[in-house]
Amino acid sequence: MPVTILIGAQWGDEGKGRAVDWLAAQADVVARYGGGDNAGHTVNVGDTVYKLHLLPSGILRDGVMNVLGNGMVINPVNLLKEMVEIRAMGVDISPARMMISTRAHLITPAHIALDAAKEKARGDAAIGTTLRGIGPAYLDKTGRNGLRLGMTHNLETFADQLKSRIEQTNQTLQQMDMDVLDAQQITEQYTDAVAKLQPYLGDTVHYINQQLRAGKRVVGEGAQGTLLDVDHGSYPYVTSSNPSSGGVLTGLGFGPRHVDRVIGVAKAFCTRVGGGPMPTELDGEIAGRLRGSGDNFWDEFGTTTGRERRTGWLDAVLLRFAVDVNGFTELVVTKLDILSGLDELKIATAYEIDGQRVDYPPSTIAELARTVPIYETVPGWSEDITGARTLDDLPANSRAYLDRIATLVDTPVTMVGVGPEREQFIHQ
Ligand code: IMP
Repeated sequence: MPVTILIGAQWGDEGKGRAVDWLAAQADVVARYGGGDNAGHTVNVGDTVYKLHLLPSGILRDGVMNVLGNGMVINPVNLLKEMVEIRAMGVDISPARMMISTRAHLITPAHIALDAAKEKARGDAAIGTTLRGIGPAYLDKTGRNGLRLGMTHNLETFADQLKSRIEQTNQTLQQMDMDVLDAQQITEQYTDAVAKLQPYLGDTVHYINQQLRAGKRVVGEGAQGTLLDVDHGSYPYVTSSNPSSGGVLTGLGFGPRHVDRVIGVAKAFCTRVGGGPMPTELDGEIAGRLRGSGDNFWDEFGTTTGRERRTGWLDAVLLRFAVDVNGFTELVVTKLDILSGLDELKIATAYEIDGQRVDYPPSTIAELARTVPIYETVPGWSEDITGARTLDDLPANSRAYLDRIATLVDTPVTMVGVGPEREQFIHQ
């Protein structure tokens, strides 16, 4: 059973990029199954920091094939830009190393303009999207009005279809009192971009199943996180895809019998960017301490948007929920080093809502927003742990913190991030 799935267990930004980078070292194929360039995966190798938005993280490991699966929504202009940037950093990106699904959907400036227009119209209730056009692109997909990569094989018809979509969107934008788009210029720019991507297009479902039949190891690389899942997250403050484990099967096209590891990635504390309830959110000194100053790339500022992230204590209630939704077989805990130096740490183990104690998150945001976390306080540690390479190198209190998380969510912690470098990673 050769598939490993790696999924964000919180609100995204859990440090999945470097965990998948490590798994990619033993993989034959790394495949993104959902989302688009709303994702921002950072991998640090030596002095070089790679920021990936659409390219699977396996692109940084020689000999790994990288797939952009059918569940993704892809902005071709931004993908080409990213390919140029990452190639300039010495990474080989060629059709021998990367395949894009002909079933994946395109993001165009029409989607980006609609994303902005809808956010503006929401006013105070804005979702805080990444403004990459993600929601409108998935809306077109499920509304059966989308443009798939496979439709670009005939560039002439594609150009006509794209132009007519932009013109239709212009009517909507006019009604919403927004600037209209230059349909001709966009059609030329996007047709040129998809022409350049032709050598990369293929039937990724067939490819992955062939690889599985040949016994190759495939890693499904999650983007965003379980709590942003359109079905399981705090709707409507979610993304428009299924980042949780169900999305892997539809977003890549293989059956569950192939999966033997479902790895959840969680930060040692919580962060969230954008609107919506966050029961353990902190403000003041500790919030700033967890966020960092913004001077380092690993500080809590969005890779894609640069926005300051909200920070809070670890929420074991939501983490248990993520374990249920995804069926995690193991957990990666990242950024444990950030907690060094705090005298004590808190973990939310249950909530109080309307006078009742619950150990499971309510399913509506109205109730989730009313929850008051019930905390367990555990001792912190003062030691610098960035040099730890085995669990035995960790101070007793940080081991105890990891053990407590594993017990609370009934899932073993098998990997731990103790710093931003590729090597600052403990695995069993
Ligand atoms: P969208 O995916 O751009 O529509 O944004 C919807 C929500 O998901 C917003 O709250 C975003 O901040 C959040 N979001 C989307 N992608 C990511 C991500 O990769 N990391 C963290 N948050 C994300």
